[in-house]
Amino acid sequence: MSSRPELQAPPEIFYNDAEARKYTSSSRITEIQAKLSERALELLALPNDDMPRLLLDIGCGSGLSGETLSENGHHWIGLDISQSMLNVALEREVEGDLLLSDMGQGLGFRDGVIDGAISISAVQQWLCNADKSCHNPRLRLKAFFGSLYRCLARGARAVLQVYPENIAQRELILGFAMRAGFAGGVVVDFPHSSKSRKEYLVLTCGPPSISTAVPNGKGEDEESCSDDESSGDEENQTVSISDRHRPRKKQKIGKKGRGREWVLKKKEQMRRKGNVVPPDTKYTARKRKDRF
Ligand SMILES: C[S@@+](CC[C@H](N)C(=O)[O-])C[C@H]1O[C@@H](n2cnc3c(N)ncnc32)[C@H](O)[C@@H]1O
Repeated sequence: MSSRPELQAPPEIFYNDAEARKYTSSSRITEIQAKLSERALELLALPNDDMPRLLLDIGCGSGLSGETLSENGHHWIGLDISQSMLNVALEREVEGDLLLSDMGQGLGFRDGVIDGAISISAVQQWLCNADKSCHNPRLRLKAFFGSLYRCLARGARAVLQVYPENIAQRELILGFAMRAGFAGGVVVDFPHSSKSRKEYLVLTCGPPSISTAVPNGKGEDEESCSDDESSGDEENQTVSISDRHRPRKKQKIGKKGRGREWVLKKKEQMRRKGNVVPPDTKYTARKRKDRF
């Protein structure tokens, strides 16, 4: 059987009570999770002003990764699909708030309220699988990245540590992230080492700018290992989280409304989807008179 947990059982079943305890009591896992979280936090490039930020830990498990966020003075909300993992987090009295939630169904936070997000060994491993017949990985990736983009403050980053199975899978995930509106790319640390090699998707909420340039990866020879040509100087990179409350996109509607053509097109689309739509008449899309 494959050693990749995501190929063995759905996460809420794989991470049962026994596995949650085993996972959390392994000193090797604790150490790896702490190291990966520290690097993810570094790649978030939060402003260097000692202000606590509100961060998300997606697939927080028993809170190992979240602990790094607390140690660095940040507030965090952790979400996970496994009740058993969250129970262990509660027993360990982690400082973050915990949510039982499936990231593939969207995150459900208000727009622009989160200052950054990390995810360690969770997104690609579990989101690209179809565990149930009703699961469509593409729809789940779309719901996940769309909701992640919306809840982040403009300029904020999400850093997702991943182990893609192949190039196609990496491109699939990045594609959905870009379609949701993120800019960014992949940072690869220690690319030449089979043991230490680690990949992070570094995504910035908002259009490409200097702060969305992908930082350099760490390598034995300190050469740049990011997949983005525009890599900047990591030392100088902090992200400015400017606008928590982004204005809603204004739709361009003329004085006469959207127009008859637009309404006819929409009605036709609805018919093609099998909806019952009233027939088109000379009154269709006609502007109503104001009553008063
Ligand atoms: C390898 S563990 C990492 C745990 C955590 N980062 C830590 O430091 O302990 C992956 C976690 O992702 C969670 N997970 C998997 N699929 C998920 C989903 N669809 N929604 C939320 N969490 C999920 C699993 O339950 C598991 O706790």
